[in-house]
Amino acid sequence: MEWKTVITTIAVVSLCFLAIPIKIEPDNTESDLKLFKTYVEKFKKSYTRSPAEYEERFRKFQRSLRHIEEMNAKRTSKESARYGVTEFSDLSEDEFASSYLRPDLSSRGMRHLHHSHHHSHRHNRYDTKDGRADSSEKNRLRRSTTGLPVKFDWRETGFVTPVRNQMNCGACWAFSTVEVAETMFAINNGTLHTLSVQEMIDCAGNSNFGCNGGDICSLLMWLTVTQVKIKAETAYPMTWRTDSCQLKKEDLSSAGTFGVQIIDFTCDNFVDAEESLMATLVSHGPVAAAVNALSWQNYLGGIIQFHCDGGFKSLNHAVEIVGYDLSASVPFYIVRNSWGENFGDNGYLYLAAYGNLCGIANQVSSLDVA
Ligand SMILES: *[C@@H]1O[C@H](CO)[C@@H](O)[C@H](O)[C@H]1NC(C)=O
Repeated sequence: MEWKTVITTIAVVSLCFLAIPIKIEPDNTESDLKLFKTYVEKFKKSYTRSPAEYEERFRKFQRSLRHIEEMNAKRTSKESARYGVTEFSDLSEDEFASSYLRPDLSSRGMRHLHHSHHHSHRHNRYDTKDGRADSSEKNRLRRSTTGLPVKFDWRETGFVTPVRNQMNCGACWAFSTVEVAETMFAINNGTLHTLSVQEMIDCAGNSNFGCNGGDICSLLMWLTVTQVKIKAETAYPMTWRTDSCQLKKEDLSSAGTFGVQIIDFTCDNFVDAEESLMATLVSHGPVAAAVNALSWQNYLGGIIQFHCDGGFKSLNHAVEIVGYDLSASVPFYIVRNSWGENFGDNGYLYLAAYGNLCGIANQVSSLDVA
């Protein structure tokens, strides 16, 4: 009698344990499908007439939903990054990477960081051959940057153009560089011009491949060596394709039509020396930086603090850093992206400072214009 009771009890208890995992694995299909219908309408997705594609997109959308839940679970404060559905949420991670990112960016970037002749020594830069400053150099830099303002934002000068949308054209390298050139020209000249990214896409040689990829430092090298002027966007408009170069002989001469010339540039590694990156931002101007943007697929806003590998090999995108804020509970960079104004916070995102988050400090470029 007693043994029977014990066995029954064990059986019941086991059943409970067995039942629990089944119970906490809810079937989300119905609620996910509801979200997906709203999503398809909101983002005007065009695959509603193809059942097979609809089904496939829905599965990818579900993956994004689970990923979003995981990422949001890591939030530590109301300033932490928020994730939710975006126009990219119906893509698999691979599709997102191949449409909007350039996984070969690191191999290109690495080449440049090893060429010391690309470095300018006007702005207290240190050599980056091994990617690190020695400790005495670091201390010197730290002292020289103690006067940094707690907040800085180039947008407040009015010298930053509206956020662009690169669409499916993988020319982040050209977008970020031209954005920096626009602000540098405005700082010198007092007038902000929207400059031609398309000209860079079509014309930049030196191992740049238009919408199929390129590198900030290769582009800057090409611009300084050839002295090709970056024309106004109105004179060389966007096509979002790699077309043949439309430049004419007179565009290459110093006279002729309006254009901005790059006369000098730097390509620096600021890993473990992010105060120097900030000092460059304040004393010189905005900078272009290579980043790992894989985790930005479902980013809505807030400060990214986690899940963004900063390794050199993970670099796959390029952005412009326009400022920083050290007064917040999590100090952060203000980063301008080129995925349109609907991305993140009106086209911008915030990256926690000091930890080389998303690899932001690996390959940073400043430039000087004529
Ligand atoms: C600004 O640039 C324009 C066009 O190149 C030039 O005509 C003008 O003189 C410049 N102004 C200043 C203050 O440099």
